[in-house]
Amino acid sequence: MASKSSPRHFIDIADLDSKTLRRIIDAAHAMKKAGKRVPPALRPKGIEDASLVMIFEKPSTRTRVSFDIAMRQLGGESLSLNHTDLQLGRGESVADTARVLSRYADAIMIRANAHATVLGLAEHATIPVINGLTEKSHPCQIMADIQTFEEHLGNIKGRTIAWVGDGNNVAVSWMHAAARFGFMLRLACPKSLFPEDEALEWARTEKAAVAVSDDPEKAVRGADCVVTDTWVSMGQSDAAKRKKLLAPFAVDAKLMGKAAKGAIFMHCLPAYRGHEVSADVIDGPQSVIWDEAENRLHAQKAILAWCLGA
Ligand code: CP
Ligand code: NVA
Repeated sequence: MASKSSPRHFIDIADLDSKTLRRIIDAAHAMKKAGKRVPPALRPKGIEDASLVMIFEKPSTRTRVSFDIAMRQLGGESLSLNHTDLQLGRGESVADTARVLSRYADAIMIRANAHATVLGLAEHATIPVINGLTEKSHPCQIMADIQTFEEHLGNIKGRTIAWVGDGNNVAVSWMHAAARFGFMLRLACPKSLFPEDEALEWARTEKAAVAVSDDPEKAVRGADCVVTDTWVSMGQSDAAKRKKLLAPFAVDAKLMGKAAKGAIFMHCLPAYRGHEVSADVIDGPQSVIWDEAENRLHAQKAILAWCLGA
């Protein structure tokens, strides 16, 4: 397993260099090709004895199931817990939880209400901590999305991705990826739902090719891929206000028609047809959402393998 003194955390795409991220994506492609039985060359040493502890403070279908199956296909095992099952849910500190879990397991994956919880776990754990979504980012999803893009359209470097909708956690991980993988990201969001300033400032500092406007057509024109996400993320309570603000940002066939010929459509799911995307787009020939969902499994195997020292 990875050195206990310097665990390889996977918290944000922004934290890793381009070379490491490329290595993980290449491993994800290889994992998919290899199928259920991951060949020894792709497995981290000692994986047969490794355990992943998963903690969920929010619901999950894809992240929960794909991480569990990913760990099994690598040859290890996993344990899925809701935070209310843990003393964490009744006030044990994040730091103490990290110290204790580090004595049992080999990696922690957490879906947290607060990004600070993930950072706190990583600060005090002596094993890798993986961000399985917070209010700020969703890096594992975007690794699967990049794998999916490349399967359909080749290397993502220099290509154009359009994000239309809420400037949310998933959008922020796309921004991180634009800087590290070298593609153009054009976001169209209502002004009051632009990605948070911290992320925009980060993209400017990194000189990332990220453009933000409130014009969906401008964002989509000529893009290789159009992406959207739910208008109401987990933990948000202002659903009615958001739906009103976001109505002009729905991805429908007319908007999709402005993208490049052969463009693909992605959505991390769960999706709400008739809201952020029309049924004819998400269920239509340009949609690659089922490959995208499947690739969570392969990308996760690659992320786990890297975290565990492969
Ligand atoms: N896309 C995604 O993370 O799905 P789940 O919420 O089902 O894990
Ligand atoms: N933005 C969504 C993504 C769900 C996978 C949320 O945070 O609920």
